[in-house]
Amino acid sequence: MKPIRVALLGCGNVGSQVVRLLDEQAGDLTARIGAPIELAGIAVRRPDRHRGVPKDLLTTDAAGLVASDVDVVVEVIGGIEPVRGLLLAALRAGKSVVSANKVLLAEHAGELFAAADESGADLYFEAAVAGAIPLLRPLRESLAGDRITRVMGIVNGTTNFILSAMDETGANYAETLEEASRLGYAEADPTADVDGYDAASKAAILASIAFHTRVNAGDVYREGITAVTAADIVAARTLGRTIKLLAICERVDDTVTARVHPAMIPRSHPLASVGGAFNAVFVEAEAAGQLMFYGQGAGGAPTASAVLGDLVAVARNRVAGGHGPRESAYAALPVRPVSEVSTRYHLSLDVADKAGVLASVAAVFAEHDVSIAAVRQEGRIDDASLVIVTHAAPDAALRSTVDKVAGLPAVREVVSVMRVEGEES
Ligand SMILES: NC(=O)c1ccc[n+]([C@@H]2O[C@H](COP(=O)([O-])OP(=O)(O)OC[C@H]3O[C@@H](n4cnc5c(N)ncnc54)[C@H](OP(=O)(O)O)[C@@H]3O)[C@@H](O)[C@H]2O)c1
Repeated sequence: MKPIRVALLGCGNVGSQVVRLLDEQAGDLTARIGAPIELAGIAVRRPDRHRGVPKDLLTTDAAGLVASDVDVVVEVIGGIEPVRGLLLAALRAGKSVVSANKVLLAEHAGELFAAADESGADLYFEAAVAGAIPLLRPLRESLAGDRITRVMGIVNGTTNFILSAMDETGANYAETLEEASRLGYAEADPTADVDGYDAASKAAILASIAFHTRVNAGDVYREGITAVTAADIVAARTLGRTIKLLAICERVDDTVTARVHPAMIPRSHPLASVGGAFNAVFVEAEAAGQLMFYGQGAGGAPTASAVLGDLVAVARNRVAGGHGPRESAYAALPVRPVSEVSTRYHLSLDVADKAGVLASVAAVFAEHDVSIAAVRQEGRIDDASLVIVTHAAPDAALRSTVDKVAGLPAVREVVSVMRVEGEES
């Protein structure tokens, strides 16, 4: 049996676990693939820092390793360059690629798949979305005979940890972020997570695969969690809801929408009980109905599990002399702007407690055709608040309503505006 020779690019959190699992499960992997996996080399930046891996495999020459006699390139470096160039070179040379790199796949999937198609190589990236959770393969293969209409999920563990902790402790965002950093759940620079960039990359990948089209990270509407306050969490709780950062991809008629933002969901919704750093994704398909995928969305070993699953798949394809499914972007659906997306909203207003306030606010909603589902007025004199939950309304109409409401003499402040998901509109 000719071994499948593998180049590993990167040996950090994920890469080091890939090396460990390849070693520990060598016998099983050989039996499952029908050929042994042989690690040909490991490209890193600083070889002296990698004491746990065989020294003779380490190299700083990633391009040389990719160009050498290898069948598969496993990339766990991250970022765009130099990875994009390395993977294009591998694919053009007919070498299959396994990657965990959401940033790259959310922006450059088109050219990478084109290179793979041309040479007949495979491009797999299960680990790029929701870590260990098998999600892309079920969307790409198991549900390929169905029509997926919606994908909604919690795909970022850091923000889910922060929002869950705020919900449990009542602490504010800044305190909770500090705690998350102390416990290792947030990076030193948490921007990619808390501002929603990471979730937006994943939403782009999910929408592309689910709807057989191409959605790039820049097409995804993005709002992070930095503006979520302890008061928002209390307001959600009062109404039997909790706040989650959601990635939502929908197919509406022959268009696609993809967005990432915090939203209130009912505490009875399956996503509400997804706590800590876990991920969960809800998929709705016409024939299959509702499906939920749940598990560890990050971490060295869980992510390495997904990488190895892909490695086994591409290695089996090699042994069989074929390749896996190609990119399926034939539907070429236009992406609708968020201004046209309809959702329910929860608004909290600080108002003067006098007669006629509610009527003046309600008139502005009616003028913009935003229908009110429920209203609650609380407090007296200096400390009155008005909580309004709307029926589904387009984002643009809601924004105009809020602008006008904010200018009413009786409204002191629009305290918060948040979408409500997971309920009948
Ligand atoms: N960590 C997770 O939980 C997780 C989950 C899902 C997906 N991912 C994805 O997996 C990938 C890797 O993540 P990670 O957490 O393992 O990252 P990491 O711990 O920072 O490791 C990155 C590795 O890449 C190497 N590297 C960086 N630049 C390089 C270059 N120019 N040439 C060769 N090697 C280079 C580094 O080498 P040195 O160590 O020598 O500097 C390091 O070994 C990323 O795409 C990430 O988004 C990670």
